[in-house]
Amino acid sequence: MIEQEKIQEINRQTDIVALISQYVTLRKVGKNYRALCPFHAEKNPSFYVNPDKRIFYCFGCKKGGSAINFLMEYEKLDFPDAVRRLAKNLGIEIDTTKGLKYKDIYDVNEFACQFYSSTLTRAIGKRGQNYIRERNIDVNRVREFRLGYAPTSGGLVTFMRQKGIAIDKLHRAGLVSQNHEIFRDRLIFPIFNLSGRVIGFGGRGIDDYIQPKYLNSPETPLFKKGGVLYGLYQAKESMRKKAEAILVEGYFDLLSLFQSGIMNVCAPLGTSLTEKQSMLISRFAKRVNILFDGDLSGIKAALRSIGLLIDAQVDVYVTSLPKGLDPDTFINQRGAAELNDLLGSASDFFHFYRKSVKTDSMEQEIALIKDLIQIVGNIQDPIKYDRYLKYISHVFDIPLERIEKAMVQKKDVQTPTPKRPLSTEEKLMAMILNASEHFHHAKDILSPEDFGQENIVRLYKKLLKDEKFDVYELSNGVDERLREKLFAVVIKEEPVPEQAYLESVMRFKNRVVEKRIRQKITEARKNGDEKALANYQKELNDLKRKMLNIKSH
Ligand code: CTP
Ligand code: MN
Repeated sequence: MIEQEKIQEINRQTDIVALISQYVTLRKVGKNYRALCPFHAEKNPSFYVNPDKRIFYCFGCKKGGSAINFLMEYEKLDFPDAVRRLAKNLGIEIDTTKGLKYKDIYDVNEFACQFYSSTLTRAIGKRGQNYIRERNIDVNRVREFRLGYAPTSGGLVTFMRQKGIAIDKLHRAGLVSQNHEIFRDRLIFPIFNLSGRVIGFGGRGIDDYIQPKYLNSPETPLFKKGGVLYGLYQAKESMRKKAEAILVEGYFDLLSLFQSGIMNVCAPLGTSLTEKQSMLISRFAKRVNILFDGDLSGIKAALRSIGLLIDAQVDVYVTSLPKGLDPDTFINQRGAAELNDLLGSASDFFHFYRKSVKTDSMEQEIALIKDLIQIVGNIQDPIKYDRYLKYISHVFDIPLERIEKAMVQKKDVQTPTPKRPLSTEEKLMAMILNASEHFHHAKDILSPEDFGQENIVRLYKKLLKDEKFDVYELSNGVDERLREKLFAVVIKEEPVPEQAYLESVMRFKNRVVEKRIRQKITEARKNGDEKALANYQKELNDLKRKMLNIKSH
């Protein structure tokens, strides 16, 4: 990974107010800046930027952190890419691949991608070129997909040997199995992660009788089928701009749409959509338009995906293709303009559901209603939830209460948890976090065992170890309520002056000591140990005198 010092330097040098101002209109209030939160819808600003602490926090949606975290969230970058972007702004040199986990597999994948794509341009790739042409794909218009061809005779192993890469690395990358190259005479679709690195491959057999028709890389440490979407790396910009994602089933569907200028499109990798994949889509689009094959299996796959996407809190629409056509063949037969019209006339998931299920069978109709109730039960937006609920009730003539009763697994519909006030040690920790310059006092006086709450102990240990006053990182993993309070203090309150700081720490320490002595007194009393009892009582009196002194300051 990137060295810690570099990251700190980048955070120190970045003007967080200037950075965030590029995206939202900040207004100065006191020492902070405030704005309408760019990460959730709101009418009153609860998004704060504190230039001294170099952090932002939204008291509405609870997103917060450093400039790096802001870029990650806003631009949907992963950590190294966000750091790289900031470093570039500052003119700082960094090597983000150094120490990258599984760097060797990334490297092998990158070389393999180069091998396959260069093969496609050479004489040995003739079969691949012909096939692409037959399928009406113009390689130049889909350059960013880095399509390739794996020759019948292989050649990857030799290519890698020339680069000094041992065969066991090819095994680890899933490109070779029992000393055989797994992709042969196939058109190659490299699969990218969100940073644009190649993590695996899909291959389409050039001859239709080749089995299986499509072959994907096996799972490797980098490649987990259910966690990636083909095309997402290339599509995410367009998805964000249009606030919509089009979901197709196949590689060729995707490329056909993309080269026709419909670029906000992605595809699961030959399996039905997973929860992870729907969460991934929801990061880039508020609305998903499902465009699956116009056959029974396409419809079934769409029905299966709807619930997952609704759970990810996106609006779901479905475009129905004529029977027997998939998006690729539709474009080839009727053109992209007609497909665009069709996409524009998509049904919302509710109508699609009703349309798709034959309602001449009571059994099926009941199953349909039950499915719909479960799906709607997972909508978190209260207004949307209400609308759909009333709609189901109206359309199927079922009383509202009965529907709500049927929602067995209904998730909490944003019931705000009652806010407990901060405990003494939580308050103390907030004060400590907010005044890094006085930390030496806390360090001298307090040890982790002085705290009773496990989350505070953990936080204090982290602080002692790194002395990094980064609320975002330190509060990672503590409960939301505490985290919010810590952010609130650090953002909105002035650091406590040294004398007051020292007194708070001492007062806390003395209370801890007092409690310990009292325990010993109880024990001595129980054991009838008069001498010990007298000693402890004296200790307690001394302590009380000391505490009085502090108070009278
Ligand atoms: N798929 C797969 N493995 C298979 C079959 C399909 O991974 N054995 C995936 C591929 O991503 C494929 C998608 O599922 O693109 C859709 O499958 P299908 O409809 O069978 O393929 P098409 O894209 O229509 O294939 P083609 O047009 O090349 O015949
Ligand atoms: Mn298809």
